[in-house]
This record gives sequence, C-alpha cells and structure tokens, in this order.
Amino acid sequence: MIDTNPKIIGLLQQKGGVGKTTLSLNLAGYFASLGERVLLVDADPQGSSLSWSNARDDASPFMVIGKAVPNIHKDLPEIASDYDRVIIDGAPGVNGLIRSCLLASDFVLVPVQPSPFDIWACADAIEQVHEAITFKDNLKAAFVINRKISNTVIGKKVFKAFSEQDFPVMDTAIHQRVIYAECASIGKTVFDMSDAATAKSAQLEIKRLAREIMQQQERAAA
Ligand SMILES: Nc1ncnc2c1ncn2[C@@H]1O[C@H](COP(=O)(O)OP(=O)(O)OP(=O)(O)O)[C@@H](O)[C@H]1O
Ligand SMILES: [Mg+2]
Repeated sequence: MIDTNPKIIGLLQQKGGVGKTTLSLNLAGYFASLGERVLLVDADPQGSSLSWSNARDDASPFMVIGKAVPNIHKDLPEIASDYDRVIIDGAPGVNGLIRSCLLASDFVLVPVQPSPFDIWACADAIEQVHEAITFKDNLKAAFVINRKISNTVIGKKVFKAFSEQDFPVMDTAIHQRVIYAECASIGKTVFDMSDAATAKSAQLEIKRLAREIMQQQERAAA
C-alpha cells in the first residue's frame, strides 16, 4: 500500500528564485514515478508550473492546475481527495497567498540557497511558518538547501547557519545541476530523462529528499 503521509507538501518561501518550482516539479515527478496519482497546484500568479506543462510535448505524468487564490486551504481538501499526493508550488512575495498555502499543507519545505542573503531573509519565512502553526499545530516544516555546490566553505557555513535557526534543516541538499534547468525548459522532470547520465544523480537526491520528508513525518507522529 502507498504511504500517503504527508499528503500535501508545500514548497513555500517568500523569497523569489530559490527553487520552489524546480523542487515542486521534480518531487511531483518522483511521486508519479512510484505510480501515485499526483496533483501539482500552481499557486503562483506567474504560472511557472503551468508554463512547464504547456512546454511539454506529451501528457504530463501528473496533473497541474493553477490556483493562485488566497482560499486554497478551504478548497484544497475536496480537490485533493482524488489524488494520493498534492504538491503546492508557492508564489514569492508577502501576501495572503503564502499564508493560505501554509495552512493547506501538511509538510512545508522552505527552499534556501547557500548565500548570506538567504540566511538574512529566512527570519521572515520562519515567522510565517510559526504563525501558521498557531492555527494548525500538526503542520511540519523544514528548510531544504537548494543549488548546493559541493565542498565549498560557504556551503558548510550556510548549513551551520541554517542549523542554528529554530527550525529543522533537511539532511538532503539539492545540488546545483544544469539538468534541472534543461529539463524544465522542455517540460520534463529529471524522472523523464532516464537516458541522460547526468539525470541519475539528480533523481537520487530528489528521491532521498522525498524519503526524508516521509521519515520526518513518521518521527513527528511517533
Ligand atoms: N538545483 C538547481 N540547479 C540548477 N538550477 C536551478 C536549481 N534550482 C533552481 N534552479 C534554477 O534557478 C531558477 C529559479 O528556480 P525556480 O524557478 O525553481 O525558483 P522559484 O523559487 O520557483 O522562483 P519564483 O519565486 O520566481 O517562483 C530557475 O532558472 C531554475 O532553473
Ligand atoms: Mg516558482
């Protein structure tokens, strides 16, 4: 039987360009590769995930819908009932949309990049999550480091700086890889690129991230 917990995973962060859409698409691609019925909710008025599905020349392995409205948390439970897994690709900016997406999620991943600017900006993201938890106490959230470049001093410093925040950091980091941008430009995820040798490492880290989300949820439930 498929373990569907957490069912709704939000990729949320008010800072722009941190990897919300990239991670949403690839996590959706991973869960779909397991045979799950996956819905990707594009909650960003920019419509990046919708553009991604339009760039594709065949049917997407998961459903993509646009829902950039601040009442997602009210509408999503009914829409989600037809799916095993729902991924929310959030919008940048400070508005009611992010709050609604936080409340709609079971598990929130906050992508951050290995940069001092992301460390300075993360306080706002933490505050938003804490505020959402006051309304939804079973909401789980964690940072995920995206665009990591291996063995750099800044990478290590940033991991330490995020670990010192009052907020968990996923052990799995997603590396800077050209394949993520290449796939996105043709409406694919790394799980559609089984012939590309460069896709293998990307598939592995996305799979690890997905498994770690499941483990964190299990630990929280124990
Ligand atoms: N791990 C990665 N390796 C290489 N490129 C990446 C990676 N993650 C994201 N990118 C690139 O960085 C850019 C921003 O990523 P993305 O659009 O996923 O961020 P976002 O948080 O959704 O942005 P926005 O806030 O505008 O919605 C894109 O060009 C994407 O291809
Ligand atoms: Mg985006």
